[in-house]
Formats: sequence, C-alpha cells, structure tokens
Amino acid sequence: MLRCEERFRNRFLVGGIAALTLTISLNRLSVAATNSQTKPAKSDSVTLGDPELTQGIPGVALLTEDQIAQWLGDPANHVPLKVSLPSGLDAAAANIYIPEDNPMTRAKIELGRQLYFDERLSSDNTVSCASCHDPAQGYGAEMQFGVGVRGQQGGRNSPVSFNRILSKAQFWDGRAASLEDQAVGPIANAIEMGNTHDASVATVKSIPGYRMQFEKIFDDGLNIENVGKALATFERAIVTGPMPYDAYDQVVKFEKTFADDLEYLDEEPELKAKYTALKSAADAMPMSDSAKRGMALFSGKANCTACHAGANFTDEQYHNLGVGMDAEKPDLGRFDQTGDVKDRGAFKTPTLRNVAFTAPYMHDGSQATLEEVVDWYNKGGHPNPQLSDKMKPLNLTAQEQADVVAFMAEGLQGDFPIVSQARLPQ
Ligand code: HEC
Ligand code: HEC
Repeated sequence: MLRCEERFRNRFLVGGIAALTLTISLNRLSVAATNSQTKPAKSDSVTLGDPELTQGIPGVALLTEDQIAQWLGDPANHVPLKVSLPSGLDAAAANIYIPEDNPMTRAKIELGRQLYFDERLSSDNTVSCASCHDPAQGYGAEMQFGVGVRGQQGGRNSPVSFNRILSKAQFWDGRAASLEDQAVGPIANAIEMGNTHDASVATVKSIPGYRMQFEKIFDDGLNIENVGKALATFERAIVTGPMPYDAYDQVVKFEKTFADDLEYLDEEPELKAKYTALKSAADAMPMSDSAKRGMALFSGKANCTACHAGANFTDEQYHNLGVGMDAEKPDLGRFDQTGDVKDRGAFKTPTLRNVAFTAPYMHDGSQATLEEVVDWYNKGGHPNPQLSDKMKPLNLTAQEQADVVAFMAEGLQGDFPIVSQARLPQ
C-alpha cells in the first residue's frame, strides 16, 4: 500500500511542478501585459485526487481564525474549478455530475472537508460522516450496519462515499436525487447523527471559523442547504487513483486491436514504442496471473460487466440479486421509491473500485468476504420472483472463483487522495 501511495503522490508532485511552472510563466506574461498582480496564482484546472485540494489549509492542529481569514483572502480559492479525473477513472469523465448552482472551488472543498470530519454536527458530538465513511476503512465502515449516536444501528451497510462525482442518485435505493440532497439527510436522521437541521446550523454558527467561511463562500451565507453543498463538493473531490486494472486493460486492448501486427512490431517503430510504454506502465503495477485470468472472466464467463460496467464499475441501475429476499420482511429497496413491482428487492449497483477495503458486502452487509460474494453469483443469486434475468448459475470452477476474487483484490486497488482529518476550526 505504502509503495502505491508514494507512487501516486510522486505522480502528482511531477504534475504539480509542471502546473506550477506553467502558472509562473503565465503570471509573468500577465504582469508584463497589465502590470497587475490580480491573476490567481493557482491553476483553475485541477485533477481530482491531487492532495493540494484535500490536505486542508496549510498548518498543524486546529484551524485558527487568522489562518482561515488568510485562506479566504486568496481569490484563487474561490475560482470555479475545471476538474478532470485521475487516469483510469477518467474514462468515465462523461458521467461527471456537478450541479450548475454548486460549482467546485478550493474553498468549498476545504469547507466540506472540515464539516465531513466534524463530530459537532451530531446531537451529542460523537458522530461525523467519517464515523460510517471512514478513510481508514475505505470510506465505508467495517460494521455490518452503520453505527450512529448512542450506538444505534440502521438496517443497511454503509456504502462508500468516494467516486460520488460520477453518480447522480444516491443511496442503495437511489432515493436522494443528488449528493447535495443526500448530505443533509444523516444529520437529521435519528439513528445516524440524531440532530435537527436547525440545531446543527446553530452549532456551526457558534464557531466563528465556520461562520467566516460560509459568509465568504455562499451569497446567502450559512443555512442547511449550503452545509449540504459544501459536503457534496468535498465528496466529489474524493476519487480513486490509477489501479493495476487500468494499466493492464490498456495492454489487453492494444493486443486485441493490433493482434495481426504484434509479430511484426519491429517494422512499426511507433507502434512498438507505444506497446512498450503500455507494458512498462502495467509492469509498474503488477497483477498476478490469477488476477489476470480473473479479469478475463469478469467480462467473460462470469458476466460481471453486465452490471459493473464502465470505468467506475457500475451501470448506476437497480437490480435484484436476491440478497436478503429470504427474510420474513425483506428490505424491498428500489420498490419503496417507485412502487413498481419489478423493483422489489432491487438495489443500486455499487462501484467495485477499492472494494477489497470495504467488507462486509451488499446493502445489508450480509456477505463477509469477496469469496462469499463470488460464490453467491456462481449459484445465480437467490431465487425470488424479481430476480434479475442477468443472474444465472455461472459454473465457475473453484480456481476460476479464486481468480475473480484475486482480480478484485489486486486489480481494483488504487490510492485515495491524501486528506487532512485534524484541521478543523477551533
Ligand atoms: C451512522 C452511520 C452513518 C453516518 C454518520 C453517515 N452515513 Fe452516509 N450512509 C450510511 C448508510 C447506512 C448509507 C446507506 C443508506 C441507504 O442506502 O439507505 C449511507 C449512504 C451514504 C451515501 C450514498 C452513497 C451511495 O453510493 O449511494 C453518501 C454519499 C453518504 N452516505 C455520505 C454521508 C455524509 C456526507 C455524511 C455526514 C453528513 C454521512 N454519510 C453520515 C451510514 C452513515
Ligand atoms: C445483475 C447485475 C449484476 C451482476 C451481473 C453482478 N453484479 Fe455485483 N452487484 C450488483 C448489485 C445490484 C449489487 C448490490 C446488491 C445488493 O446489495 O442487494 C452488487 C454487489 C456486488 C458486490 C458488493 C459490493 C459492496 O460494496 O457491497 C461485489 C463485490 C460484486 N457485486 C461483485 C460482482 C462480481 C464479481 C460479479 C460477477 C461474478 C458481479 N458482481 C455481477 C449488480 C450485479
């Protein structure tokens, strides 16, 4: 892991230096042209995952009002950002969703970061978003169900709060239309943060560092909608970095496209150089042979891509796999939102990036390991009247099942951004 982390950090370091050089030369130009210093020093084009965005206002320990005032005084922190995604995930860039009335800025990401980790938003100052979506637990939680104020538990497993920029509807049943809508839910949920929106806004208002930020960042200052907007903006900045799959997939695609030319690459120096570059990128993030076989099964015999499709490994649709359907009163999932019989027991396809970090699995956390999950699919799920027609017994051998697990565990592992958790307003 550490090695991986370093690689990602270095990549950004190199990118950061390049960006810096560019900004410096641009600044020189503008100084020469207008003799003014008004041009922001930071670029408005950013790659999400860059630690610069989530590391917090520079410094240590709690944030002082002076530090916040200085940060808010830098116009660059208020410029709407043009965002791109880390390599691999960027193949899903067409699905980026940022509402028009909530553009991403550095200051808003930073405010959302503070709120995300702040237990003062809960009724008894013990629970934050991170309690159930913990960076150290893959932005999910190791428990079967999320544990909120006074140890209370709900009936669903905490899904991950990363790569959310690629999803519109949120929750296992899609009942929140946007991240903004979703983010204010847990605060007032009796068994999550157990607060009221009014009380949490009053708490935030009583903290001068927060008050300063809301007043500067939002035209209408501090209210619960803007708490949601800031939290949503921070969540959009949490994306997964390149994974072994991303690099190896390029090699596989090249080999498919140029199958007839591979033997003669010596005669095509340009093509050969491209192939060598792709292969050395893949070698830098190796996958075992078992994981490579699992990757072929994933889109082949095991048919996982029927639903876990695209660069974020989800079709953003709802399917019934039969999970929990043998309960006396099953959780009907999407049906409770649509009332459509075919949606009974259907849940949203989750991303599989970094899935190895977020056991237990499924909407009810009923499956403890990836082995158990693959076994479930191999049997064709659990029979019930609304079982998805994409669920069929797969007849995978024990080795093939192990290969699919190895693919998820090794191939789908990328780095998370570096996020400061300690820098909260005094
Ligand atoms: C007590 C545990 C708990 C706390 C605290 C909590 N969540 Fe959640 N979160 C969950 C559970 C459980 C779900 C799934 C609920 C469902 O689908 O019905 C969820 C769902 C989500 C989702 C939807 C993800 C998806 O893939 O659809 C997001 C985003 C999210 N939470 C963000 C937050 C934010 C932001 C906060 C803080 C304001 C927060 N959560 C606080 C447990 C928690
Ligand atoms: C019919 C669509 C569909 C197919 C095919 C499918 N999945 Fe899923 N997958 C889902 C849905 C929907 C869920 C959540 C279901 C629930 O919680 O009830 C899920 C959940 C998972 C989870 C748990 C993730 C988490 O965060 O809890 C894993 C792991 C997973 N699938 C892997 C696979 C693999 C491996 C395959 C191929 C063998 C596969 N899936 C095939 C739709 C599908």
